[in-house]
Amino acid sequence: MDIDSFFSANIKAALKNDPPGEWMPALPENCIRLSSGYPDPALVPADQIKKAVASLIEEERDLPLHYLGSPKVPKLKQQIKGRLSERGIHVSEEEVLITSGACQAIDLIARIIIDDQTIVAVESPTYMEALEIFQNYTKHFITIPVDEHGLDTKRLEEVLEERRRKGLILPRILYTIPTFQNPTGTTMALERRKHVLELASEYNFLILEDDAYGELYFREQSIPLKAMDHESRVLYVGSLSKVVAPGMRIGWVTAAPEFITALDWFKKDIGHPFSQATMASFLERNDLKQRLPTLREAYKKKCDVLLSALEQYMPESVTWYVPEGGYFVWARVPGIDTSDLLTESLEEGVSFVPGKYFFKEQEEGTEFLRLSFSYADQKEMEEGIEKLSKVIKEKLS
Ligand SMILES: Cc1ncc(COP(=O)(O)O)c(C=O)c1O
Repeated sequence: MDIDSFFSANIKAALKNDPPGEWMPALPENCIRLSSGYPDPALVPADQIKKAVASLIEEERDLPLHYLGSPKVPKLKQQIKGRLSERGIHVSEEEVLITSGACQAIDLIARIIIDDQTIVAVESPTYMEALEIFQNYTKHFITIPVDEHGLDTKRLEEVLEERRRKGLILPRILYTIPTFQNPTGTTMALERRKHVLELASEYNFLILEDDAYGELYFREQSIPLKAMDHESRVLYVGSLSKVVAPGMRIGWVTAAPEFITALDWFKKDIGHPFSQATMASFLERNDLKQRLPTLREAYKKKCDVLLSALEQYMPESVTWYVPEGGYFVWARVPGIDTSDLLTESLEEGVSFVPGKYFFKEQEEGTEFLRLSFSYADQKEMEEGIEKLSKVIKEKLS
């Protein structure tokens, strides 16, 4: 039987891309994981979640285990609205949809916005999983560089101007991670935030704002684009993966009610009422507002350890951005293909993600690598950077 002949045109086209998750190297045992964008295991509140589950079942018995779920599910929406207002985003219930993580939110947005001829504008580099999702729907992209102040909005304007002048199709949506971007760790400057909203209005496109790391700032909070959006152009995506636990798969979209209705159309009941009720129970018992300062302090400390180790061990030619929050440091290793470097680095027992996976045009990323300071502990990070530096120096000599 010709199995391929049964596939939709959409999946046939998508299967021609690299397999999803290819960036995640197979790690040897005891490898120091500077590749993983996971929370610090010590900061995942396992005991509190255990208590939240126990009290949920105690209080509601079988209720959270049914399709309809527990009364805690609508409560979670209220709690998420509370998180949003902390970020300066004040919305009604009809403007929020709870999803199975930010990734489901991005996928649902792609489903309602992107046709196979749609142009999507993305940052270069960008979060590879989002790129994979968009590539499931279209082949047409515009890539705009990111520097230490985030998305280069001047460049975006030039590209848009040129396309308009030539009568070419304009992008329908821009995907951006303005705050503590994955992978670069950079944050979009306020003037650029205003500029990108002006451009969205002038050139009539939507903005998918991914704020997965926005609450993890080291010094000060940045204003999300959504908080400055007066035209409902921003579809804002958030997540509790980085500040509570990624396995619970709790994310959300905030957008105009018409978008939420359309997203919900596809989402149907593909959600996790038990996980949502557990999260609501956890948040009732553990105020995130009190928990966040501890997380910010812990990740800042870990970031400082990674940066000091880079200063201490890396050769002069290696450079990196200093992040103001989030999970990642983005480094450039001139003259070295970081995919080759990874093989040797894994032999030494340390992992990172080669830069190429974060670029639509992968060859643009060969000299870059992403280091995560979230998962490994301080001692491992120092040891890991020392080992990685040794491999780099050997390659350069
Ligand atoms: C920018 C960005 N968005 C979204 C996600 C995924 O979030 P979730 O676990 O809620 O799907 C990640 C996780 O690495 C991320 O880095």
